[in-house]
Amino acid sequence: MSEEQKIHVAKTPDGKKTGRQIYNDLGCPKKMLCPLVDHSELAFRILMKKYGCELSYTPMLNAKLFSKDAKYRSRHFGPLDGVHKMDRPLIVQFCSNDVDELIKSCDYVKDQCDMIDLNLGCPQNIAKNGNYGSFLMENWSLISELITKMHEHGLNNTCKIRIFPEMDKSLEYAQMCVDAGAEWLGVHGRLREQRGQITGLADLDYIKYINEKIKVKNDTEEKQVVISNGNLLYPGDIKKILEYTKCDAVMSGEGCLYNPGLYNFDEDKDDVNSAEGLNEIKDRVFPRVDKIMKEYFDIVLSVRKDSPASMKSFKSHIFKLLRPFFEKEIDLRNEFGPLNKIFEEDKYDFNDFIKKVEKRIEERIVDHEDVISFNEEDSNDEVKYFNVPFYRCQPYFRVIDGVKNNARYVTMKKDLEDKEGFLHSLKNKKQKIKDDY
Ligand SMILES: Cc1cc2nc3c(=O)[nH]c(=O)nc-3n(C[C@H](O)[C@H](O)[C@H](O)COP(=O)(O)O)c2cc1C
Repeated sequence: MSEEQKIHVAKTPDGKKTGRQIYNDLGCPKKMLCPLVDHSELAFRILMKKYGCELSYTPMLNAKLFSKDAKYRSRHFGPLDGVHKMDRPLIVQFCSNDVDELIKSCDYVKDQCDMIDLNLGCPQNIAKNGNYGSFLMENWSLISELITKMHEHGLNNTCKIRIFPEMDKSLEYAQMCVDAGAEWLGVHGRLREQRGQITGLADLDYIKYINEKIKVKNDTEEKQVVISNGNLLYPGDIKKILEYTKCDAVMSGEGCLYNPGLYNFDEDKDDVNSAEGLNEIKDRVFPRVDKIMKEYFDIVLSVRKDSPASMKSFKSHIFKLLRPFFEKEIDLRNEFGPLNKIFEEDKYDFNDFIKKVEKRIEERIVDHEDVISFNEEDSNDEVKYFNVPFYRCQPYFRVIDGVKNNARYVTMKKDLEDKEGFLHSLKNKKQKIKDDY
């Protein structure tokens, strides 16, 4: 940050609720779905809500386009988005580098959501070219102005940040966002550079540090809400991460995309830490892929007229939900690919395909026991893995040099002791991520 940057500090309008009050009003949600471009659209949010998700974000919407282009607005945010009961609580996320465009966009959606989030984390080239997301990380003056204007406009506002290599700079950055008026702070424990082939692991120590220090500085835990993002794979991770970081909530992206059952349990009643416990609730936490495909398909059908975004994302979701199944049942996978296009053109009833998947699973269950088992081979004292039958949704592990690059904080802590070395080694690793669709 250069010396001459002007940091804006919010003046709170009379009667504006604190982050904690908003959080309480929303029922203290702990299990959240991340903002996900082309993936956290209406139909998937409805599915996630059915499966225990307590709050969702929309995909990132571009405030420049949203404020000016009615077609863009209707493609990405329709009359059913944010409808009570079905799609709330909801946070709408914008990326922006212009106060007027941002406030205008917020005004369009503010009555159809509970909060508005500023994206400060997008690391993609499109964000670099458009100068938004994580590419504002050096421009604290602009960030603080954007947040302050949202706050002073009376909006319930949050922002989602990434971390810097230096812990104290990350804290200073987070504190700047809070001082500017962000009532909630989502902290994704990865650097801007950690994307694509070098995504690596999120650093929960940074999240823990930021959360604790911010709450001390603000002198009361009653005000600020901090959400931990990164490294959720199994239902048991939620409690572990909340206890470790002491954050108010977790949000998950890929964990939910590959297994919408991740949040579908009752923390007071269900045992999610042992294979025995998981077996008892396997239909909820590792749903069968045919069942979830059918549920998701029905939701897409019910909203398709008002949610083009849900139609657009359908195929990509099915490939993620059925990933382990399609890896084995290649003929069905090949059959599914072209079907999506015909479905979009309203010429195909997907129920036929779903029946085929159902029949194939019934045949396979004869040879493959339908049980969740403890994976002794990959587990160690700190990290537990489970074997889940291939016809059930399950976490997706990136395999790097033959090793599961699962994002557990214990492993990650070791990796990130030397951040420079870590980035260097990531860049030099040939990661074999099989993203073949
Ligand atoms: C397909 C996809 C789309 C994403 N789109 C967004 C987005 O629109 N806004 C955002 O802030 N982050 C976005 N992210 C990042 C996620 O919100 C999240 O921070 C990241 O995936 C790390 O969480 P996870 O380890 O639980 O996946 C996206 C990630 C993925 C995989």
